[in-house]
Amino acid sequence: MSATAVTEAPAAVTLAGVSKVYGRGGSAVPALDQVSLAAEPGEFTCLIGASGCGKSTLLNLVAGLDQPTSGEISVGGRVALMFQEPGLFPWLTAAGNVELALRARGVRKAERKQRAAELLDAVHLAGFGKKRPHELSGGMRQRVALARALAQDADVLLMDEPFGALDAMTRDLLHDELDRVCEGRNLTVLFVTHNVREAVRLGDRVVLLSSRPGRVIAEYKVPIERPRRIDSAPVAELAGTITDRLREEVGRHGK
Ligand SMILES: Nc1ncnc2c1ncn2[C@@H]1O[C@H](COP(=O)(O)OP(=O)(O)OP(=O)(O)O)[C@@H](O)[C@H]1O
Ligand SMILES: [Mg+2]
Repeated sequence: MSATAVTEAPAAVTLAGVSKVYGRGGSAVPALDQVSLAAEPGEFTCLIGASGCGKSTLLNLVAGLDQPTSGEISVGGRVALMFQEPGLFPWLTAAGNVELALRARGVRKAERKQRAAELLDAVHLAGFGKKRPHELSGGMRQRVALARALAQDADVLLMDEPFGALDAMTRDLLHDELDRVCEGRNLTVLFVTHNVREAVRLGDRVVLLSSRPGRVIAEYKVPIERPRRIDSAPVAELAGTITDRLREEVGRHGK
């Protein structure tokens, strides 16, 4: 689940006029249209847009899992992905899942155990390394998935609605943990969510995409000091402004 660097630039992502069309002729589906976006090293960018506007497509392209129809993408450094489903191997323990990612990166066996324990500790799962995924709660499984993503020693973390299936309280805790993890690692994050408040809670910046095909229609810097709370007044206020703009966009497409 990692892609190699496209350029030797510092850890950051650049999309220049990126378009993606699936299929051909009458059945062609334009998913992205001339998307230009640059993420600074260490920047946390949230992507918001209506369902089907091309958010997952954009992440897949950045991960190198698919090619754009036109335009340029450059990614500095190693990429890791995290999805709504944790996608852990059920027959491996939590530590085993993390160790597998370390092994894929060439970490020697002698170091893997200790490194996996440190990563599980970083996501507050110390002591759960021997559990298998079915013995963990949904939130714990996503923490293991986060530890596994960190095990890839990524510079760029691509997250596609990673907390979408969790209850509000668990999500809140994971927001705090993600803040902590990002702070210490200078990770560049592209985070897709349907939840505007979550985007404002987490992001340095929120990018709004139009309905299909996805185009960047607005960008909001988030000037709110950290630590932030999802239910704080400044978060709610900016989320309200962004939601109004999103409603306008969705309304324009009659959805
Ligand atoms: N592999 C594919 N082949 C053909 N069409 C695709 C493929 N992947 C996505 N699409 C189409 O491209 C458009 C964008 O899809 P994408 O999954 O990127 O949207 P999204 O913004 O992630 O949606 P959601 O918020 O529902 O997850 C959709 O119309 C979808 O049907
Ligand atoms: Mg998607």
